[in-house]
Amino acid sequence: MSFPLYAPAEEHDMLRETVRALADEKIAPHAAEIDETEEFSWDVYKALVAADLHAVHVPEQYGGAGADALATVIVIEEVARACASSSLIPAVNKLGTVPLLLSASEELKSRYLAPVARGEAMFSYALSEPEAGSDAAAMKTRAVADGDSYVLNGTKMWITNAGVSEYYTLMAVTDPSAGARGISAFVVEKSDEGVSFGPKEKKLGIKGSPTRQVILDNVRIPADRMVGAPGTGFKTALATLDHTRITIAAQALGIAQGALDFAIGYVKERKQFGRPIADFQGLQFMIADMSMKLEAARQLTYHAAAKSERAMAGEPQKDLTFLSSAAKCAASDAAMEITTDAVQLLGGYGYTKDFPVERMMRDAKITQIYEGTNQIQRMVMARQLLK
Ligand code: CAA
Repeated sequence: MSFPLYAPAEEHDMLRETVRALADEKIAPHAAEIDETEEFSWDVYKALVAADLHAVHVPEQYGGAGADALATVIVIEEVARACASSSLIPAVNKLGTVPLLLSASEELKSRYLAPVARGEAMFSYALSEPEAGSDAAAMKTRAVADGDSYVLNGTKMWITNAGVSEYYTLMAVTDPSAGARGISAFVVEKSDEGVSFGPKEKKLGIKGSPTRQVILDNVRIPADRMVGAPGTGFKTALATLDHTRITIAAQALGIAQGALDFAIGYVKERKQFGRPIADFQGLQFMIADMSMKLEAARQLTYHAAAKSERAMAGEPQKDLTFLSSAAKCAASDAAMEITTDAVQLLGGYGYTKDFPVERMMRDAKITQIYEGTNQIQRMVMARQLLK
């Protein structure tokens, strides 16, 4: 039995109000255009930096806001309620830097976390490859030691915010005979000679966040850019996901909340058969179910966030792996159902770009896929339960 750990502190409620106000004013009005033009919004990035909301999780000792995991979830949720693409700014900054927070030397942490906290650089995470998606340990990218350097060659794929991020935590094989224990993590910089990016993937959703390959052609980096000890990169990568799958759950919650709020407003206004369609019980039941699924996923996500916070503070949590997969899976499945129902509630209008719910439905889909497909999440959960 596992009891809820979090209390909805007043600070968290105030933070939500602040982020919602900023998102309503500075992000929501641009969300449709960001989706249409498929461009990363530097204006949104600047607005988030100005409010110190672009990488809230970075601890104070590295110049960050030092927000706890639940506060980080709330920030991502509220930005995603307005624009899913934009919510990948705080989410991916966390994904790229958690490997350092978990495993890097103090020197590496200070060097790379401070510019992220200042809003001068973003940080992406490069694990997947064209032939190594769910089976991440099957990666082929090589890092070969050469004196005081490593030389990296290979192709990373599906890298969120590739090209706009300055820094990348990148997993590569240092010992091909050792399987998952032969993978190491490195910080690679966009400006390192030999780093290039593939074309932007043409995606169904999250179009304002570039997804590109990161291509490494004889990239020579100093050996001190290794995160942790040789051979620990895969464990660091998976331990990172234990913390960050919760941020994808947060994104899903935000997208779903945005769709639900819009649909509720619509059914109260839209009249058919001489009265608002909100008067019809069939639609009332849909709204009730949408809200129930969302709140259940939210409670699970906040509980997982509280566990993540404890684990980050040095108190290992046995059920964190289970809970982060469960939260990501439950919230993303809920978001897909809720956004699909929101489109349904708007009828023909919901199916057009004149209303935001079709975008939200497209954006929701990715949350069932990235940071591990929901099939992988179920596998992770089952492994935890059966071991
Ligand atoms: N924390 C720390 N270590 C862990 C761990 C965890 N949660 N889970 C497993 N490990 C360790 C294991 O103990 C093992 O170490 P030992 O050999 O020393 O015992 C090692 O890691 C390998 O573990 P497995 O044998 O379980 O590994 P596997 O090859 O069977 O794979 C998997 C496990 C769960 C399927 C994993 O590959 C996985 O999660 N796949 C999905 C990949 C994924 O999520 N990709 C997301 C990419 S990032 C992204 O999408 C971000 C974005 O763009 C926004």
